[in-house]
Amino acid sequence: MRVDRFLSNLPRFNRQQVRLLLVERRIRIDGQAVSDPRAEVREFSCVEFDDEVLQAGKPARYFMLHKPPGCVSATRDPEHPTVLDLIHEPDTTDLHIAGRLDFNTTGLMLITNDGAWSRRLTQPQTKLPKVYYVETEQDIGEHYIHTFAQGLYFAFEDLTTQPAGLELLGPKQARLSIVEGRYHQVKRMFGHFDNKVLRLHRERMGPLALDATLAPGEYRALTAAEIQLI
Ligand code: URA
Repeated sequence: MRVDRFLSNLPRFNRQQVRLLLVERRIRIDGQAVSDPRAEVREFSCVEFDDEVLQAGKPARYFMLHKPPGCVSATRDPEHPTVLDLIHEPDTTDLHIAGRLDFNTTGLMLITNDGAWSRRLTQPQTKLPKVYYVETEQDIGEHYIHTFAQGLYFAFEDLTTQPAGLELLGPKQARLSIVEGRYHQVKRMFGHFDNKVLRLHRERMGPLALDATLAPGEYRALTAAEIQLI
């Protein structure tokens, strides 16, 4: 929300006073005096008026998890363990998953309470590559490369997938890079050739790669530098 709107919403200031407070640089967001009425106030921002705290701001939290097979990418599930069951932190109820994985897919999963950050990561428009290691039942043909680069028509969504990059690693192994996260996207892409995906592992989301020191089921907080990358 814009800072002028944030201040006007408080019962104590009218619009005229808000304009003046900003001109006089008496408002600080995260320690920085602001005069621009369009400056952004987020739920995580600390907003001060002179020496008074108007909003303390809640801490933004970011975690990288090595998702094991056999767990659900949901916050709650009546039958199976969920990825959030693996996060042993206070107050996990405000956390969400940035880019789900199927039940048996393994690898990099990012978990946060910062909705704007996770949107930047997952929106197809930002074109951040999501990189998967894939093992299949049948041999992967060279012709897959061209088909995936052209995009595949998904009738259910009535769309053509964005160009995807395929690197062949072995007869039945490949690395696939996609910029979207459509429902079962990788399995459906290989399914186009009637080739079943037997193993799927997410190695990377944009600039963030799975930390090789994390065993399946382990997680760690992202560093400030990693958070800034998105
Ligand atoms: N594509 C899939 O088919 N499954 C996943 O878990 C991720 C991408």
